[in-house]
Amino acid sequence: MNSTDFRNALGAFTTGVCLITVDDPKSGALALTANSFSSLSLTPPLVLWNIQNDSDCFREYTECLHFGISILCADQQALSGCYARKDNHKIVEDDFIVDEYGVPLLKRAVARFSCKLFKFLEAGDHHIVIGEVLTFDAEDHSPLLFSRGSYDQLASRTH
Ligand SMILES: Cc1cc2nc3c(=O)[nH]c(=O)nc-3n(C[C@H](O)[C@H](O)[C@H](O)COP(=O)(O)O)c2cc1C
Repeated sequence: MNSTDFRNALGAFTTGVCLITVDDPKSGALALTANSFSSLSLTPPLVLWNIQNDSDCFREYTECLHFGISILCADQQALSGCYARKDNHKIVEDDFIVDEYGVPLLKRAVARFSCKLFKFLEAGDHHIVIGEVLTFDAEDHSPLLFSRGSYDQLASRTH
């Protein structure tokens, strides 16, 4: 299998972009950009995302009790780029609130989920991280999209 062709085919699936956040006792509050978020189950309420096995933040995201997911708005491309940089996962506190579970969540987002770590599963060069949603909220913002390796936004909406 040609890995470039495989990546390109996978990239044809347009996604949203989110920040996965955690407050680690040793490393502090971290955020990591991810587009592998997916809904998983309504009862119980489960969501998932995938973390690369070689991420510098692997321990923090797989040993945590709780983590957060903030789905980015169309105008938050800079935040996505910021937390996708290696060695740049410490959060800029002004942009975040901390919820009742100690989870950092973006102040402004399309939707926010505060999760309890439910399970993580090894799967190839990633682990699947499953969270049980404890609280969530959603606002009527247009989402940031990621498609074929580039950012995009919905054509039909202006806000
Ligand atoms: C749009 C976008 C989506 C990404 N999605 C994921 C993801 O789902 N899982 C992941 O582990 N890394 C993902 N990354 C990569 C991380 O954001 C980040 O670049 C990587 O974690 C940096 O390496 P480090 O974790 O060792 O610091 C994504 C990056 C971008 C720009």
